[in-house]
Amino acid sequence: MIDNETEKNKKFALTTPLYYVNNVPHIGSAYTTMVADVIARSKRLQGNSTLLITGVDEHGQKIQRTAEKKGIPPQKHCDEIVSSFKSLWQKLNISNHRFIRTTSSTHHILVKEFFKKVWDQGDIYLDRQQGWYCVACEEFKDKRELTADNYCPIHTNLKAEWRDEENYFFRLSKYQKILENFYQENPDFIQPESRKNEILNFVKQGLKDFSISRINLDWGFPIPTDANHTIYVWFDALLGYVTALLDEDQEANLDNALKKWWPINLHLIGKDILRFHAVYWPAMLFSAGLTPSNKVFAHGFLTKDGQKMGKSLGNTVDPVALVESYGADAVRYYFLKEIELGRDGDFNETRFINVVNADLANDLGNLLNRTLGMLNKYFKGSLSNLTGTDIPEDNPLKIIGLNLGDRVLEAYNLLKFSQACLEIFTLIRACNKYIDDSAPWSLFKQDRKSEVETILYTVLESIRLSAYLLSPIIPTLSTNIYKQLGFSIDFNNLNFHLISQDNLHHQWGKLSINQNLNKPSPVFSKLELPSENTQ
Ligand code: MSP
Repeated sequence: MIDNETEKNKKFALTTPLYYVNNVPHIGSAYTTMVADVIARSKRLQGNSTLLITGVDEHGQKIQRTAEKKGIPPQKHCDEIVSSFKSLWQKLNISNHRFIRTTSSTHHILVKEFFKKVWDQGDIYLDRQQGWYCVACEEFKDKRELTADNYCPIHTNLKAEWRDEENYFFRLSKYQKILENFYQENPDFIQPESRKNEILNFVKQGLKDFSISRINLDWGFPIPTDANHTIYVWFDALLGYVTALLDEDQEANLDNALKKWWPINLHLIGKDILRFHAVYWPAMLFSAGLTPSNKVFAHGFLTKDGQKMGKSLGNTVDPVALVESYGADAVRYYFLKEIELGRDGDFNETRFINVVNADLANDLGNLLNRTLGMLNKYFKGSLSNLTGTDIPEDNPLKIIGLNLGDRVLEAYNLLKFSQACLEIFTLIRACNKYIDDSAPWSLFKQDRKSEVETILYTVLESIRLSAYLLSPIIPTLSTNIYKQLGFSIDFNNLNFHLISQDNLHHQWGKLSINQNLNKPSPVFSKLELPSENTQ
């Protein structure tokens, strides 16, 4: 069944990371955002009112240097890049409600207010920072974290830089015990389990205060108490999650921001930024007298054809090209089905095409087409009002279909998307087998019409349920399937769950298929590799 947290809490707020605007979005950012959208949609499907937050992280040295290289002011650079994020999210059919920019004036107001709370707590002090700084990570690194010639393992094309400067520090060490107790009392706070252990080990080694200001850097908010310093980009960026909670017409202050949606239910991030979210962020919130978010889930990294992706390697995957060539549903389906959330995953274009064609075009699309074809041919496109209760208990599709909705929604709530797909496609494949085995065309010839009707109803109802349950992942295809079956639900309408509040849609056999189309038309065209197009 649907887990307790969801049953009790009918509100669900989640975030993607706020992406650096040093460059246009890469496939890693697209991956996180697609997954976050699927979570948001699956929550909406269960009647939760849902807020999906995404946005961009615009300050810091990395952005400043990128703008300098382009010879334009950083704000202009950010403005240029931001539109590429917004347009990709639109192309990928991301149903975000909030898009936060950390250069916004409301954000500045909230950062100042938050800083003051931490300052008043006595948790900020001036000291000397010496160490190796990776500008790409925007993070000081321990010498032992770097390679022998001072490269950080994530950014092998950018050397860490030695820094020796005066910085303001946040008293993280003060929160050692508090954090340890917090992890113990909230065993699900860090997911998946393997990542949690990584963080517990890190914390066990003893937390060190970290610097939250930079000198010789203009691009950022000034430290409210000392304008010679700029607030460290991570201190500023994490607070973007709070600013994003403000309604447009609300006065910018922490109380207003926190009123409706705090604590955030889930931060979905990549594994490389877990420490910031699972250690620094809750400590900052404790210091300001706030409760931490409910959960941080760190997903794995993507590779291309089994290799680490990188510009210098020339093997990056461009998410814009991908969605423009193949469409949003295909891209979303591949990444959600093929990669178990939390593990590293690979993108390979041939595999992508094979998976999508096999599942969406053949097993699902063709099934709908051939079944509706028979319905038209044998019954002029309509069934007498059959429902699941008219179908014998031992019907193979009824057996699978009856509890499928509960199982799949549970998988969604556990963020097990590959498993959700697997369960749904077990039913879809069983439909294909059922038609082949029962051969309705010969039954029709023998004038066994009611048997044929039973077969067509059970198959079409199974397709309907499958489309409904797949709608968080492939919303447009699901809407088209629903349309062909005579239902008018648009899964891209964010309020659709309000329309179908009596929701019987996740239960097999509760609905009669009143489809009234004359001609079935293919809902999903087979994908082809671009090179094949030209042959
Ligand atoms: N700006 C910070 C986040 C601040 S959140 C308050 C940041 N931005 S980022 O643009 O560099 O990274 C965004 C996300 O992309 C991270 O979650 C990171 O894990 C993810 N990925 C970067 N490369 C990736 C892959 N190759 N594969 C999957 N995700 C990857 O960090």
